[in-house]
Amino acid sequence: MKKSLITAVAMGSFLIIGALSRQAHAPSPADHAADDFLALTPPMGWYPWNIFGQEPQNEKLIREIVDALVLSGMKEAGYSYVGPDEGICFYRGKDGLLTTNLERYPSGLRGLGDDIHRKGLKYALYTDAGTHTCSKAMPGTKDREFEDMRRFADWRADYIKIDWCNTEGQDIVKTYTKLHDAQHAAGRPVVHSLCSWGDGEPWKWAAPIGHLWRTTSDICAPGKADWLHAMKMCAENEKLYPWAGPGHWNDPDMLIVGMPGLSEVQNRAFFSLWCMMAAPLMAGNDLRDMSESTIRILTNPEAIAIDQDPIGVQGRIIRTAGKVSVWAAKPLFDGSQAVLLFNQGTVIEVVDIGLSELGIAPTAAVRVRDLWAHATQGPAISPEGVLSVQVDPGDVRFLRISRSKDFPLPPVIVADTYLIALKAAGPSPQKLTGTLTLTDKGTANLPLWKVGPDLPPWLTVSVARNGKRQTVTNTISSAGLKRGSYHAVVRLDNVEPVSGKPMSAVYYDVDLEVGDPDAVRR
Ligand code: GLA
Repeated sequence: MKKSLITAVAMGSFLIIGALSRQAHAPSPADHAADDFLALTPPMGWYPWNIFGQEPQNEKLIREIVDALVLSGMKEAGYSYVGPDEGICFYRGKDGLLTTNLERYPSGLRGLGDDIHRKGLKYALYTDAGTHTCSKAMPGTKDREFEDMRRFADWRADYIKIDWCNTEGQDIVKTYTKLHDAQHAAGRPVVHSLCSWGDGEPWKWAAPIGHLWRTTSDICAPGKADWLHAMKMCAENEKLYPWAGPGHWNDPDMLIVGMPGLSEVQNRAFFSLWCMMAAPLMAGNDLRDMSESTIRILTNPEAIAIDQDPIGVQGRIIRTAGKVSVWAAKPLFDGSQAVLLFNQGTVIEVVDIGLSELGIAPTAAVRVRDLWAHATQGPAISPEGVLSVQVDPGDVRFLRISRSKDFPLPPVIVADTYLIALKAAGPSPQKLTGTLTLTDKGTANLPLWKVGPDLPPWLTVSVARNGKRQTVTNTISSAGLKRGSYHAVVRLDNVEPVSGKPMSAVYYDVDLEVGDPDAVRR
């Protein structure tokens, strides 16, 4: 063995040689996301179910979690969708409309949503396609689809998870299609998360009507992380790799990272597997009570970059070597590719991977980035063209392989707010402005965001760039407006970003009150 190669082994327990090939995977034109440009990368956020179940879900909890999400750095890392799951948050009123359970959510579901938007986060709500939610504590949407989706739009939900309990006799395709139509009719762009636990094989038909679908049963009973069960879910989801892509994701359920009973190694392995599968990253732990290690794992930008890669390919197992699964076939936007080795045995393993297995020519020098050690090795060349990687028992090696010395991070957009609320004292003409700032947490500057069509006549929007931040200025002219409340949803697009792939559109709300109208909060 040549000296340089021995050095590489000592430094990082792997060798790598070769060149990379790049594959393009275009989203299907039939995708729901082709219109709304939502969830072009897997949604990231937090849902309460895995750790809390139904109790103690209430507004106080959600607000505390929102604060923890911001303070822990998770918002900066890209987590944005947050809200109650089956949290007994509404009932059906005598008028047939969904009504907030004010005992648990005293600000009203709209009030809570507004505050989540003010903090630069997105609002996730939950319902069920049948007569009732799973515990029967809340009404389902059956035969009320259009009113209920209108109500979710009033509450300004950005993401709706729709469960499949109590649906006896309902046709799954027709039901979820009707729910999609109802969301469309309600006029508010929303991420549609189907939750039939794999029933009806939604991966085969749901891309035109939804953005993600659960592929498996619940990953755990509330509060009880179950490692072996989670690995079973992972194995089932892995097989479905051909069905995932930008705007239409396989969802093997929320994360169990940071839940009691899991070791640091298990947390790291789990997070790597979900990132490699381009799975939605909806954290499911108690964000108010996280160890440093859990925060480090959940916010690792290099692992998240694999999940959020704009090409949007779900990686898969290309083969196994004893107890080690070799995950690859995940090309990334810069021409590099991700490789994950997962050792489910009890002893240290060293796995040799032929570069040809990865579609890499053996002649080019490549560099290997270890996404947990945050270290780059190489360039290295071996006449055999073999990558030799050591993996500890139960652990993973999560690698990114590139011809370039740079390992750019794709764009991750963080907003300081998603709600611009302005008030004109009276109906005489006035000019008001409010701004929001979008920051790209990736490594390259983005082209300017473009303002979408359909702005109301009272609103103009302009965008200016300052390095990795872009300021979106909303100017309102109240001239000619009567007293009352006005509302617009603004869409911003970035369709030629550095990644070469369109980004998810950004939507935000603009509220204008002219004079002193009745409060709009419920
Ligand atoms: C189903 C879903 C879970 C959770 C519960 C709520 O089991 O799969 O994720 O939403 O319902 O009852």
